[in-house]
Amino acid sequence: MHDIQSQFAKNIIGHAPIQLKEGGVAFAPSNIALCKYWGKRDTALNLPINSSLSISLGSLGTRTELRLLPETSDSPSVYLNGQLQSHDSSFAKRIASFLSLFPQFGKRCFEVRTENNIPTAAGLASSASGFAALVMALDDLAGWGLDKKKLSMLARLGSGSASRSVYDGFVQWHAGSNPDGSDSFAEALSKPWPEFRIGILKISDAPKKVGSRDGMNRTVATSELYKSWPQQAAADLKVIRAAIAERDIQTLGKTAERNALSMHATMLAAWPPLIYFQPETIEQIHKIQRVRSEGLEVYLTIDAGPNIKLLFLEENEAAVAAAFPGLQIILPFG
Ligand code: DP6
Repeated sequence: MHDIQSQFAKNIIGHAPIQLKEGGVAFAPSNIALCKYWGKRDTALNLPINSSLSISLGSLGTRTELRLLPETSDSPSVYLNGQLQSHDSSFAKRIASFLSLFPQFGKRCFEVRTENNIPTAAGLASSASGFAALVMALDDLAGWGLDKKKLSMLARLGSGSASRSVYDGFVQWHAGSNPDGSDSFAEALSKPWPEFRIGILKISDAPKKVGSRDGMNRTVATSELYKSWPQQAAADLKVIRAAIAERDIQTLGKTAERNALSMHATMLAAWPPLIYFQPETIEQIHKIQRVRSEGLEVYLTIDAGPNIKLLFLEENEAAVAAAFPGLQIILPFG
């Protein structure tokens, strides 16, 4: 697996010259999928079964600073929000394993300083912005000057959703079909939608028992309902793309909500079943349905966790904030 990934990274970087700097730095936004990535067709190259579409979260994300220290070491020194992480922590291990895919730096020890400004309590995944920022900081340090398409392919090796976090705004990750992964990359969808809002409805920040990676692998392997997912996701993606182009919140919201709940349906049919909802998640889903039936234009999406993200427009911001006290509102277009 390591060798396959390392070879893939080598092919992507190609003959880009190394013009090493003292350090490299980059920021990448977090993102929320409106049409979810759920299921891999190749675990080594991290290739998805279906294409997905997300919205990046503007200034909320990860800033990563990299330095190559004079000493040699197999393990990088990893700081998260100013705190040195133990080499045994899963966070430091994931970063070490990713950096080991790039043998061009020899045995020089990396210092990695990563800062998340996503409130950890918001229950937003940081692996997407984390791996995107890491790849971009590496590109800055090495002076490769890779384009965004290539950066998205490298970020994908760290985490699938990270491929989308190298861009702002609405982003599509093309699943591709080549077994070598050469046509699986993310691309920005041009048109900004400044009135678009996301609300984070926090239900719980307790660590999940089963992460997205294991959850999707279990679903693909055991869920009968998963068989219909790739077709549904392809149809939803088309509709969502068109809705973005037409700024049609009703079609976008409805399709994104159904897409997320369909993904959860495939998980419920897995064995052992994957139930990411907490009782309060269900309560809030009912509440969203109720306020919507009373005329408030608000929709939801949920990832592999209990927290809910609301989708709505600026014109309904005050009403949504009043209906959901404590909601954290994000302006993806600043
Ligand atoms: C439900 O990108 O975390 O958030 O590729 O295994 O690292 P790996 O998975 P990851 O999965 C994200 C799943 C999701 C949907 C999405 O973001 O599209």
